[in-house]
Amino acid sequence: MNGIGAPINRTDAWAKVSGGAPYTAEHQVEGLTHAVLVTSTIASGRVLRIDDSAAREVPGLLLVMTPQNAMRLPKSTKDGKLQPPIGRRLTLLQEDEVYYNNQPIAVVVADTYEHAREAAARLRIEYERKDAVLDFDQAKKGKLHTPEKVLAEETDTRRGDLADGLLAAAVRIDETYTTPIENHNPLETHATIAEWDGDKLTIHESTQYMKGVQRIVANIFGIPPENVTAICPYTGGGFGSKGSIWSHGPLTAMAAKMLGRPVKLSLDRTQMFGPVGQRPNTEQRFRLGAKDDGSLLASAHDTVAYTSTIEDWIEPCGIMTRMMYESPNQETTHRLAPMNLGTPTFMRAPGEASGSFALESAMDELAYQLNMDPLALRLKNYTEKDPGKDLPWSSKSLRQCYEIGAERFGWKDRKPQPRSMQRGNQLVGWGMATATYPTNRSPGECSATLAADGTALFRSATQDLGTGTYTVMTQIAADAVGLPVSQVRFELGESTMPEAPVSGGSTTVASVGPAVQAAGHALRLKLAGLALADRASPLYGVTVEKIGFENGELYLLDAPSKREAMREIVARHGAPVEVTAKAEPGDEKKKYSMHAFGAVFVEVTVDEDLGEIRVPRVVGVYGVGKLMNEKTGYSQLMGGIVWGIGLALLEETVIDKRNGRAVNGNLAEYHVPVNADIQAIDVQIVDEDDPHVNPLGAKGIGEIGITGVGAAIANAVYHATGKRVRDLPVTLDKLL
Ligand code: MOS
Repeated sequence: MNGIGAPINRTDAWAKVSGGAPYTAEHQVEGLTHAVLVTSTIASGRVLRIDDSAAREVPGLLLVMTPQNAMRLPKSTKDGKLQPPIGRRLTLLQEDEVYYNNQPIAVVVADTYEHAREAAARLRIEYERKDAVLDFDQAKKGKLHTPEKVLAEETDTRRGDLADGLLAAAVRIDETYTTPIENHNPLETHATIAEWDGDKLTIHESTQYMKGVQRIVANIFGIPPENVTAICPYTGGGFGSKGSIWSHGPLTAMAAKMLGRPVKLSLDRTQMFGPVGQRPNTEQRFRLGAKDDGSLLASAHDTVAYTSTIEDWIEPCGIMTRMMYESPNQETTHRLAPMNLGTPTFMRAPGEASGSFALESAMDELAYQLNMDPLALRLKNYTEKDPGKDLPWSSKSLRQCYEIGAERFGWKDRKPQPRSMQRGNQLVGWGMATATYPTNRSPGECSATLAADGTALFRSATQDLGTGTYTVMTQIAADAVGLPVSQVRFELGESTMPEAPVSGGSTTVASVGPAVQAAGHALRLKLAGLALADRASPLYGVTVEKIGFENGELYLLDAPSKREAMREIVARHGAPVEVTAKAEPGDEKKKYSMHAFGAVFVEVTVDEDLGEIRVPRVVGVYGVGKLMNEKTGYSQLMGGIVWGIGLALLEETVIDKRNGRAVNGNLAEYHVPVNADIQAIDVQIVDEDDPHVNPLGAKGIGEIGITGVGAAIANAVYHATGKRVRDLPVTLDKLL
């Protein structure tokens, strides 16, 4: 078996380890010139002058593109400011305003990267400085924005009567949890190569959204989408950052247009901290009220996050609170405090990663107050339907996740009191939390062609961020058409291919997978149609329901020895057999609430004298529907847990309150987990059959792995030390 579920190696593994998988900046283009992005060093004000006289002395300099000389773009909004679709407000040198530090203010192009860099360093930039809001506490005191929506959900929700519920409660919690700004650090930074041919643009862009690049860039230049070809066969990680189109891409295309030559621009690591989105810091007030037996009577989750001064973007922290536990009286709110920082954006499990830290920490605090086991408290408030949407779950295996996780971890041996488990001078702590992520789906399309040699080519304009899209789509396609995986090729990464949505929100398998499957089914049906109408075929004259498909052959179900190879049918047909198919969600979202669920159990050790925190083991058990590949799937969930350890203990972007610059905007000082930080991670999957989510029964797995981990670790640290840290990351200074 090598189709759906099989733990096969990545189909692109060999290309990746042998240098045959080019990332955006590695594409070879004739006559290429090299650009460097110049960004602001102030947080608010205007660019008054850019003096390039010293830069002009650098040999090979081709262009210094500034707000003064940049090509004018068609204006697409009433107020005259550029407002591309999907909400990103870009800074494309059409104005001289500066809204945040590290904002693009110029592009320098030269014959080599070194010359461009040298010339960029020689620019003398004069600013008019304005007051900037750079302190979150100060920003919160200003006028808060109420975002229109929280993703597709309501900004605020209310059920029952919160005040009544809190009043009736025997035990109450009222605590505030804070999470820092975090930045995406895919190994491949954002990069663009732009090349014009008349009014046709080819743009290589490292992206999670091929079709988005095509449409948005076309919109920015006022040209038809079919004039733009976006290309990205390999994305070196994105994590949400590459789901939107940011300024550098269109700026590169502008420079290429002005020069009449192809231009390449790659962000440096420092430029990943500001102009391409980040996870906003949050302050989350949590109130819980429960009866003596642990049943929740009331819950309230109020989130304030920063946004930029140019755009509203909200971290949807409250969404998980609305659906996770029974709570008859509840309020959730989301507010925004504008600051002179780059606009925040989606970052792996936006909302659930940071929101679950607050919710699952508060539940842990409540458990201690009640003298109740933290797992028992969760089981006490287990939901058999979504209490926020008042809909049944499409499937929910959380009970099994808790059971299996507790068993594998050995949870029953936990001593309830903090500081009660020690090994030498190491305090040992055990903590747990619930994980969840919504299951969503968008329309997708796929084409399929069977060639005369019996191999099939499937194509869809989707993306592989390193997650395994190439591999799992090949598996889905092989099963659907009835071919071995070795006979199937799946191609992605070009906007000319059939429609596919953004690879975000853990939806690629759920959206593109069904289209691939439908294309496979359409292809085999077309082959059957050709065979049964052809006197030369052993299957001539039979009806299509009687035909089976396996291993590249069609055969009669009643008499399996009657069979014919697919390639014979194609050969007689005289041309490749082609189909396209589309798959889209129906009204299942109206009938069911759809989520993946999981349970995370964590052991930490805390050095009594030094406060050093280590994570010897994590057990994560998940109900994610059908897994497409047991190797890449487990790896992805494990990777999510690794990031959860980073979120809990390491990651934090520190903003200089004087100038709004990230002071640790590099991988030396912005800490992510390395091998030495990671010990045993035990990922388990619960068998789960969900007929409602999509034809594959697959819930997304890209994001659930990070959720719950932050709280499970903070809860374990409390159990180890008796110190409750409500401010991420949990660093040793907070324990001393
Ligand atoms: Mo994911 S944060 O939706 O790319």
